[in-house]
Amino acid sequence: MSQYLLSIDQGTTSSRAILFNLKGEIVATRQQEFPQHYPASGWVEHDPEAIWKTVISTLDDLMTGEKVHPNDVVAAGITNQRETTVVWDRETGECLYNAIVWQDRRTASYCESLKADNLEPWVANRTGLLLDPYFSASKISWILDNVSDARERAERGELAFGTIDTFLLWRLTGGREHRTDASNASRTMLFNIHTQQWDPELLKLFEIPESLLPEVMDSADHFGVITGLESLNGTHIMGVAGDQQAAMVGQTCFESGMAKSTYGTGCFLMLNTGDEALQSQNRLLTTVAYRINGEPTYALEGSIFIAGATIQWLRDGLRLIRDACETEPLAEGTPVDHGVYLVPAFTGLGAPHWDPNARGAILGLTRDTGIKEIVTAGLQSVCYQTKDLQKTMEKDGIRPVTLRVDGGMVVNNWVLQFLADILGARVDRPDMIETTALGAAYLAGLQAGVYSSLDELSKLWRCDRTFEPVMTKDKRDRLYGGWLRAVQKL
Ligand code: G3P
Repeated sequence: MSQYLLSIDQGTTSSRAILFNLKGEIVATRQQEFPQHYPASGWVEHDPEAIWKTVISTLDDLMTGEKVHPNDVVAAGITNQRETTVVWDRETGECLYNAIVWQDRRTASYCESLKADNLEPWVANRTGLLLDPYFSASKISWILDNVSDARERAERGELAFGTIDTFLLWRLTGGREHRTDASNASRTMLFNIHTQQWDPELLKLFEIPESLLPEVMDSADHFGVITGLESLNGTHIMGVAGDQQAAMVGQTCFESGMAKSTYGTGCFLMLNTGDEALQSQNRLLTTVAYRINGEPTYALEGSIFIAGATIQWLRDGLRLIRDACETEPLAEGTPVDHGVYLVPAFTGLGAPHWDPNARGAILGLTRDTGIKEIVTAGLQSVCYQTKDLQKTMEKDGIRPVTLRVDGGMVVNNWVLQFLADILGARVDRPDMIETTALGAAYLAGLQAGVYSSLDELSKLWRCDRTFEPVMTKDKRDRLYGGWLRAVQKL
């Protein structure tokens, strides 16, 4: 009888259910996209019911389509878009408002006012985060202040808050378990990453009643048992991590100094700093990478809001391409120094600028600029932004010992060669690029005893291809200098 690990990967634009064998190889996948809502400039919402529907239908479809019995699933893991905020009624399970997505900027002026009160260093010392609308705390406050009766109901203990992992766990366990893991908790701005507990002072600052909050567990832990979903009834959920942290686990970046960069909707470069919560002096985030056996491992993170989403915009917004795979041959036929720079600040700029009000621009257009230059500039923008993060880490005195890349965009060899060139550093692509889902499966497998240690997992990592820099320093500096000037113009 075959045995599997199941991963539920709830991302910003789609939900996926992935079945792995115990060697960490993909057996089958199902995926469904769901609509994005932009009710006002800079606002981004998801309908939590649409998220829920896509999750259960991908799970059902996977289990029945592949004729897998729930008893064959050793354990399941959840990984999710982080920070996205849902508040629901504990009694009815009904959500009070749409999920406010991590990209949403509606609380920018609220965050500014806290910054004006000089609270950023105080918040950063406790949470490792900067005062930006990106994180959950200001989004929860917004819901409590803007949905009628929400605050009173919250104070009466009638409501629950969750990031998407918590919302799904609650629903999958029939409302029994209100839990999250330390990696997701560390993105809320309410969690003290040093004490590993919800912080009463932060709750006071954001006026959030503690009764709203889930219990914080290890990332490999006993989260609950699936009920009410026939195809999976009785399956134990044993791993939970935010998607970027899960990718770090999937990439087996378990040693201090190892880094991974994931190119999904956004791009998130995380560097393992071991048991030390290293505080950046240059506006990077400190976050919990994972917590196992009660021991947190920390990471330094550079967050870029728009990476793969640029390609989506070139395809769906500008209709310059029909499929992302067209970008590689287009870029191959374009000199890298074509002079066009696309700055995809569609939802502001993340690290190291943290400017929620910045908006995108294309600069350097001439009469002979065509589709291929704009598309190439879109691909290059992802690499230049990674370079921004590398530079920022260097200012903090850190240079990753390895950089492992993953996410949908890394199938593009041109992008990875340009990335290695512009970073002036080696880039490793694993043969398994679905590392986010794999990380959640690994965490569940660790807890279930399928794997005995992180070392055992490290041995499963396989390199598909290494990209070495070949560009001259002079050319690299010239190209990157142009990017910095373009960003400055915003
Ligand atoms: O912090 C946001 C992040 O978790 C979203 O990830 O995969 O949708 O780019 P992704």
